[in-house]
Parts: sequence; structure tokens; C-alpha cells
Amino acid sequence: MFLKKIKVMTVFGTRPEAIKMAPLVLALKKNKNFEALTVVTAQHREMLDQVLKTFNIRPDYDLNIMHANQTLGEITANVLKLLNKVLEKEQPDIVLVHGDTTTTFAAGVSAFYQKIPLGHVEAGLRTWNKYSPYPEEMNRQMTDVLSDLYFAPTKQSKKNLLREGHAEKKIFVTGNTAIDALNETIRDNYRHETLKKIDPQHKIVLLTMHRRENQGDPMKDVFLAVREVLQSHPDVDVIYPMHLNPKVRKIAREVLGNFERVHLIEPLDVVDFHNLSAKSYFIMTDSGGVQEEAPALGKPVLVLRDTTERPEGVTAGTLKLIGTEFDDVKKEMEKLLDDQAAYTEMSEANNPYGDGHAAERIIESLNYFFGNQKKRPVDFQ
Ligand code: UD1
Ligand code: UDP
Repeated sequence: MFLKKIKVMTVFGTRPEAIKMAPLVLALKKNKNFEALTVVTAQHREMLDQVLKTFNIRPDYDLNIMHANQTLGEITANVLKLLNKVLEKEQPDIVLVHGDTTTTFAAGVSAFYQKIPLGHVEAGLRTWNKYSPYPEEMNRQMTDVLSDLYFAPTKQSKKNLLREGHAEKKIFVTGNTAIDALNETIRDNYRHETLKKIDPQHKIVLLTMHRRENQGDPMKDVFLAVREVLQSHPDVDVIYPMHLNPKVRKIAREVLGNFERVHLIEPLDVVDFHNLSAKSYFIMTDSGGVQEEAPALGKPVLVLRDTTERPEGVTAGTLKLIGTEFDDVKKEMEKLLDDQAAYTEMSEANNPYGDGHAAERIIESLNYFFGNQKKRPVDFQ
């Protein structure tokens, strides 16, 4: 059978997109059926470059758009303006985007303007709440309206797409590529300089917080609760790799800076973050990706948000949605630290997000879509 060489352009711009696209970018580059082009918008700069370096990915195009205090409108406008030229020149057979950032949405619009098919990796996640998470929920919904191929990580995300009327034949359940990445990063006998500063008998709580809707009072409340719990628990340390957003760092430093047993550190390389996750007692986060990784590591997660588009982990029992109110955060931290039965129940739940073969399934789906493979790939169960 004649195999058509498929020109695939992956476009991404932030740390989480890069981490979850990396397994796919590397698999596409290795596969002779594809001519793989990588475009980064660099909506993030240092945090993106960290990931590119770790996975040894050299983009073919770098739009280099990031600047301090960038607005959603500026990110969108810059991606549209610059990506258009690249698409016009390269005319790929398909553009692949990931997840829910403004890069994702703007790249989707750019592909549509050029009438180039669009594939959405991590399609179909929903809260159905327009402003939570903001702007990610609408970025996802708008990207899915524009897409021609959907790589839904779970059955639930496929269901969400069907509910919106997307054709079943265009939806492939693949598992989440986050788990593919995680399989590459965990090391035995892992060491890190921050761990050297912590009493080995202490419990480590890993904290991350960055979402736009949490900046300001919600973040402050959470950090105050963390301080209070640490005062009554002398055997607990908190590690917080701070996002590079200056608004986030200012609040973190004001409330938690110079506070005993709080380690405010720079963003970690993904290998370090995964391994420190594995060494932690539990995780507190408003991140999306961390909610997928922690269940695979058997780590309970207190989700610092009012909604989640990742309900599978809540159903499985690893994730608990606790919001950002001072009293709730304090109570839930104390429960995990002091109630062994509650801790065990959360840490023994199953990982619902993937088996480490999501990138392979996406590649098979692309081959099927473009007629290089007759058999439809089997969905991730
Ligand atoms: C973005 C995504 C969010 C995702 C998050 C992952 C949007 C609207 N938001 O949010 O969905 O969860 O990335 O982290 O797409 N900065 C740096 N260096 C970096 C990265 C960021 O200095 O490498 C600073 C810059 O001042 C930048 C600011 O952080 O202006 C905010 O970055 P931006 O991408 O707009 O928002 P995030 O909160 O990172
Ligand atoms: N991560 C990382 N270093 C850090 C914090 C997180 O590499 O210091 C990774 C984490 O493992 C996950 C991803 O970054 O894969 C999550 O990114 P983020 O929380 O910024 O974005 P979100 O997932 O909320 O969109």
C-alpha cells in the first residue's frame, strides 16, 4: 500500500503544553510516515525552554511572543499575526494543538483561517463554567468547535464532546500524554538540593499555584492557611516552586517568604518536579497537569479550585476539590496530616488518566485519518 507522507505541524507555547506534547513530537520525528514540524509561540519563555531542553526538542519556528504582564488579547493577536505567515509558507496537512491555553485557541483560529485541518490533543475536558478556570474553559470549548480530530484523554472527555454534537468517528480516546512523559522522568535514588535542607523524617507538602482566577485574595488565603498549619505541625515542610508570573511571586513572598520550613524555589525542571512529587507526602495545587500526574504516583492532591475539568481523579479518590477559603484549606491539610485512614484512602486510589501509550494512539489515529492505516485504533480503556 502506498503510504502518504503526512506533514504535521505541532504548535504549543507554555510549559504544560510542551511537557504533554513532547512525547508526541518525539514520536512523530521518529516515524517515517510523517514530516514533523514544531512551532513554539513562546507564550512562556524560560519555563518553555526548560522543557525543550529536557526533551531535546529544537523547534523549527519560534515566534518568541512573551512579554511581562501580557494580556490575553496581546497573546491572541501576536499568535494570529505571526503564525499565519508560518502556515502560509509551510501549508501542513494538519496542525496539532494541545489543551487549553491562549496559544491553543489562537493557533486553532489561525489554522481555520488557512483552512488547514486541526487536531486537538487533550480534547473534551469541561467544567461547563465559562469563568472557571478562566480563560481555559472557553479556550477548550472554542478549540473543539474548530477541530477536525479529537484526541480525548478519557471516556468522560469523549462523552463531553458527543454531548456537544461532535461526530463520534472523529473522536479517539487515547489516554493522556502526561502519563507518557511521566514514564520517562521518574528515577530511583533521586536527589535534589532542596531535599538536603529537609529533615528526612519530615513530611513534604508540594505546593503550586498560578491560575489567573486565584491571583489576589484566594492565593493569600491559601498561603495564610499553609502558615497556620505549619505552626502546629513541626514535622512538615512545604516546597513551593514558584511560577515566574511576577503577580504570583509577589504574594508568595509576602506571605510565605522567610517562613520556617517553607522552601520558595524557582520553577523546577520537569524531571525534578515529577521526582519531588514522588517524594512528597501530598500535593496542593491549582494546576491542571499536576492533577493528572499525581494519581499515577499515588499522591493525594488537595485541588485549590472550585471546579475541575478532571473529575476522573475525584471519582477515583485521589483528588479532592477544596477551593481556596482559609478554613477549608486548613481543615483539609490537617485531615491529611493527622488522619492516617483518610490519607491511605486517597493515596491508594487508581490512576484513571493513561497507560503511557497515548502518543502511539495519536499517531495511529493520524495514520487512520489520512488513509495510511485501515484499522481504526482501539480506544484507551
Ligand atoms: C498560562 C496559561 C494557563 C496555564 C499556564 C501554565 C493562558 C491564558 N494561560 O498561564 O492556562 O495553566 O500558562 O503555567 O494561556 N512568565 C515569565 N517566564 C515564563 C513564563 C511566564 O516571565 O517562562 C511571566 C511573564 O511575565 C508573563 C506571565 O508570567 O507575562 C504570565 O504568563 P501567561 O502565559 O500570560 O499566563 P500564565 O499564568 O503563565
Ligand atoms: N511542573 C514543572 N515544574 C514546576 C511545576 C510544574 O515541570 O516547577 C510541571 C508539572 O509536572 C506539570 C506541568 O508542569 O506537568 C503543569 O504546569 P502548570 O501547573 O504550569 O500548568 P497547568 O497544568 O495548570 O496548565
